[in-house]
Amino acid sequence: MYVLAIVGSPHSDWGCTYRLTRRMLEECESLGAETEIILLQNHKINYCKGCGSCLVKGRCPQKDDVETIQGKMMEADGIVMASPVYFMHVTGLMKNFIDRCLPMGHRPSLHGKYGAAVSVYLGVGDVEAVARYMLNFLTFQGAYPVGMLTALAHNIMELREEDLDRAADLGREMVQAITEKRTFDWERLMRRSEEFQAMKKLISEGKDFFKKDYEYWKEKGWI
Ligand SMILES: Cc1cc2nc3c(=O)[nH]c(=O)nc-3n(C[C@H](O)[C@H](O)[C@H](O)COP(=O)(O)O)c2cc1C
Repeated sequence: MYVLAIVGSPHSDWGCTYRLTRRMLEECESLGAETEIILLQNHKINYCKGCGSCLVKGRCPQKDDVETIQGKMMEADGIVMASPVYFMHVTGLMKNFIDRCLPMGHRPSLHGKYGAAVSVYLGVGDVEAVARYMLNFLTFQGAYPVGMLTALAHNIMELREEDLDRAADLGREMVQAITEKRTFDWERLMRRSEEFQAMKKLISEGKDFFKKDYEYWKEKGWI
């Protein structure tokens, strides 16, 4: 069992987001999982150029660390997305990485995997919405939503012991969900999802441009 966390805080391994995610993964390790944390800060991730090559040809022409990280996501059983709140949203580091996952968003391929999200803030804005955004990113692609954890950083950098305990709980929940092979009716959820329906319309009507997507959706029976 392999649980991967992708952390989008520029505070690296001393940040609150990292420390909560680390606690979650330590719990996964104690239950036998292999874990890894990717700090986006330490990787070369260019901006999406919006060229659409990934949709037409199936691959991004940019040479940086994105494919390696996506490869690890495909190997993982569990994926944790973690970001502090920056101006009511995820950090630019996290958003930049998510933008580069465009082909994954168009061709949902995280079925059979398990997702979770972690977000930390100082009390301004909707931290739940930020965590939900990252969890939805994974769920939209088929990952089972295990749960999310949000926390308030006290005195700027302090975490409460109870929040670290909740991180450990989420780690345990992640391992249990993977072990029990929990499932959910993804297609039913997607039938009710406005984003999924809009994507279906976009790909159907634009099938000459979204060739790879159209083939994929047809093969899956979603169109
Ligand atoms: C550019 C920037 C924008 C921020 N925006 C918000 C915000 O909208 N709401 C909030 O509560 N905290 C905001 N913060 C504070 C961070 O969310 C907070 O310090 C968090 O604990 C950082 O987590 P980290 O230590 O894991 O990086 C912001 C911080 C920075 C640097």
